[in-house]
Amino acid sequence: MTIRNICCIGAGYVGGPTCSIIALKCPLIKVTVVDKSKERIAQWNSDKLPIYEPGLDQVVKMSRGKNLFFSTDIHTAIKEADLIFISVNTPTKTFGNGRGRAADLKYVESAARMIAEIATGDKIVVEKSTVPVRAAESIMNILRANHKPGVSYQILSNPEFLAEGTAIEDLLCADRVLIGGEDSIEGHAAMEELCKVYEHWIPREHILTMNTWSSELSKLAANAFLAQRISSINSLSAVCEATGADVSEVARAVDLDSRIGSKFLHASVGFGGSCFQKDILNLVYMCECLNLPEVAAYWQQVIDMNEYQKSRYSAKKIESLFNTVTDKRISMLEFAFKKNTGDTRESPAIHVAKTLLDEGAMLHIYDPKSRTSGTSSSTRRSATGSLPCSCGVCKASPTVP
Ligand SMILES: NC(=O)c1ccc[n+]([C@@H]2O[C@H](COP(=O)([O-])OP(=O)(O)OC[C@H]3O[C@@H](n4cnc5c(N)ncnc54)[C@H](O)[C@@H]3O)[C@@H](O)[C@H]2O)c1
Repeated sequence: MTIRNICCIGAGYVGGPTCSIIALKCPLIKVTVVDKSKERIAQWNSDKLPIYEPGLDQVVKMSRGKNLFFSTDIHTAIKEADLIFISVNTPTKTFGNGRGRAADLKYVESAARMIAEIATGDKIVVEKSTVPVRAAESIMNILRANHKPGVSYQILSNPEFLAEGTAIEDLLCADRVLIGGEDSIEGHAAMEELCKVYEHWIPREHILTMNTWSSELSKLAANAFLAQRISSINSLSAVCEATGADVSEVARAVDLDSRIGSKFLHASVGFGGSCFQKDILNLVYMCECLNLPEVAAYWQQVIDMNEYQKSRYSAKKIESLFNTVTDKRISMLEFAFKKNTGDTRESPAIHVAKTLLDEGAMLHIYDPKSRTSGTSSSTRRSATGSLPCSCGVCKASPTVP
């Protein structure tokens, strides 16, 4: 099979940018990104994209309407595709078994069921969402249970390593691309087809093929290692404050060790975003299910340290304001979880804002990149909740004069 037609289910922070780059670099492949959200698809088809990423607007403009399409017609896109990316959200479960830790795979499952229902012919189904190890097996079980004559599937794991704020750069110059598949002739053939897509711009030596479970675990492992570095330096910031050492000097001394390196060693309010916490909790839960309590406790500590740091940070802010913020008007400049993104999911700013509000402060929050639905890209958000916002802070706030 030669890949001529790609469908991506999920037009989010991963599906949108990833497919825009594939379309840009593979002009002979038709790429259709589908989503069940009409609003999101309408935004992708407008001048105001649903997410902010440096360089994304230009990339989308270069291919949209030529070989890149955004659509809600999931049925047609699946039917026409040779290769289908599943790039839907995999949030932490909020109910039932594993609540607060396990990954909720309901969207992955619903995507797999749609494929099973609609697909005809040979399809390569690629798990791009971050999932627990052996999730590909569940997808395969769904597809096999709904087997129709003349339809065959190969499931691949191809986790995404882009970081919000640098997504385009990360996609164009990926350190590596992982492709996991079944160790069979068909499995290797499917991996080869996906390699050929990436080879349009990624050097072959940066494309690693491996077994499916290693590929799934590698994504969780990478995020766990990155978050661990942040928690490590943040833990040392507490020691510095107690001793008079300067954490930036300590970080500098440590990062100059070539075995360690400089990245992710900046002490601050703690990590946020939709991935680190969710993926580590997912890893912790998986370890518990595998009866590996020591391993689970080891990674749980990375999360615990992050919570401690967020509380410490908020407490220090209050302390610096004479131990009371009641009725004080405080401005928060920027609210997203990091620079160059509008994404406020799990932003540490939420924790800080909630603490300040609990203490009676009056907050004015401004973030030019964080959008609320239906507002312009430059949105002034006040804690009155006058604009709809999903962060929970706006709702929790008292009135602001
Ligand atoms: N955001 C990141 O920086 C990042 C980086 C690497 C990996 N990931 C992983 O990639 C996955 C997607 O993350 P995201 O940030 O793009 O999520 P997102 O919430 O931005 O987008 C997911 C999209 O999938 C759509 N969707 C869900 N179920 C659907 C269905 N059955 N049919 C059609 N559309 C459906 C939703 O409407 C939503 O628009 C997650 O597993 C995440 O962990 C995210």
